[in-house]
Amino acid sequence: MRKQVPLERLLYFKEQIGFDAKTQELLKKHGHVIAEHKEDFAVYFEEFFRGVEETRPYLEVQEYPGQLQGIWKRWFESILTRDFDEHLVGWMWNSGITHVRINLDHRFVNLGYCLARRFCNQAISRSIAQEDMAEAMEAVEKALDLCLLIETEAFLANTFQCDSEVIRGIAHQIRNPITVIGGSIMRLKRSKEVTAGAAHETYDTILAESRRMEKMVRDVSSYNEVFHRQSEWSPVFLQEMLQQVLDECSNRYPVDNLDLQTGFAPMAKQVLGNPDEYRLMFRHLLANAFEAVDTENPVISVQTSLDPGTSMYVLVEIFNTGKLSGTDEMETLFTPFFSTRAMGTGLGLPISRVVAQKVKGNIMLYPVSKGGVACLASLPRGDLD
Ligand code: HEM
Repeated sequence: MRKQVPLERLLYFKEQIGFDAKTQELLKKHGHVIAEHKEDFAVYFEEFFRGVEETRPYLEVQEYPGQLQGIWKRWFESILTRDFDEHLVGWMWNSGITHVRINLDHRFVNLGYCLARRFCNQAISRSIAQEDMAEAMEAVEKALDLCLLIETEAFLANTFQCDSEVIRGIAHQIRNPITVIGGSIMRLKRSKEVTAGAAHETYDTILAESRRMEKMVRDVSSYNEVFHRQSEWSPVFLQEMLQQVLDECSNRYPVDNLDLQTGFAPMAKQVLGNPDEYRLMFRHLLANAFEAVDTENPVISVQTSLDPGTSMYVLVEIFNTGKLSGTDEMETLFTPFFSTRAMGTGLGLPISRVVAQKVKGNIMLYPVSKGGVACLASLPRGDLD
């Protein structure tokens, strides 16, 4: 199925590039003269891409001889002589989609635009009067910039959409069998015939692993979504959100005699970002603290403050007693699927870091000298004015 042309967005690019009525007028004035070189352009393109190992096959397997030369000739002429209206913009978008469909490496399309730019500059210096060259070049540059931007947009929208659809599909397909396996094991455990301890142990292992798979499916989906979603930023009240997530975690991971300390700095009231993504991030970070806390001396503390280096950022420090086992290298813990816990998915910290980095913040982990581990999130302040 062809993806609908995002006309509004493409026309917005046109505006941002500064492709206005004056540019269109200049193309009308000079474009026809440059377009007379269309045959040479198509031959130049074909010869060049025949010489590139990766692109040669596309030229060897054409539906009919000269098909691609024909396309390139028509493209060259169209962008120089036609109005950049919704039809032309839509055609550029579709060429981007076609290139994704035939698996043409986007770098070669970029290379094509470099060649087209060079060719146009030469054609202008050969065919346009000296005093008009600058204006002709400027208009042609804008036309080429716009085409490349549309092509890139189509490439990104379609490749990412493909990845996301596959990941969502896998997650969906796996979720159902896991639920069935979990349910069946529960029934088996309850059945009267199974009394032997060893069988119960095996069932418990299968059950625990199927729960881990369930978590894995959920975390892979949210990693993928957070990574690709273009989120709007809005102010988020830190204290309220942290308090809510702390309450959730206290219920979900009860720890006997837990010493839970909080300190919310009045100056660090708000952060900027997507509230849902922040909630997801704090859930992961606080769940880690609750699960890793030293049960002999259980202390968790959550403190907010203004970044002393720049008051544009807020720091959220989550500390827990206990040691990190399995690695000395804190950065390794941000590698997707690396986990020090048997039932971990290894995605909590990577998801959290993606959320923070999307708003130009970051997350670091470090061991505390008097014992324990601190996780420091630096996030953009939301109440600057
Ligand atoms: C500046 C770079 C390029 C531009 C502007 C461009 C432009 C186009 C356009 C306008 C189409 C027709 C899309 C449609 O109507 O659906 C197209 C299709 C195609 N392009 Fe490109 N292209 C470029 C680079 C390349 C390169 C480097 C190759 C490989 C050598 C290539 C191979 C193809 C193929 C195989 C098709 C599909 C033809 C078909 O429909 O069977 N293109 N291109």
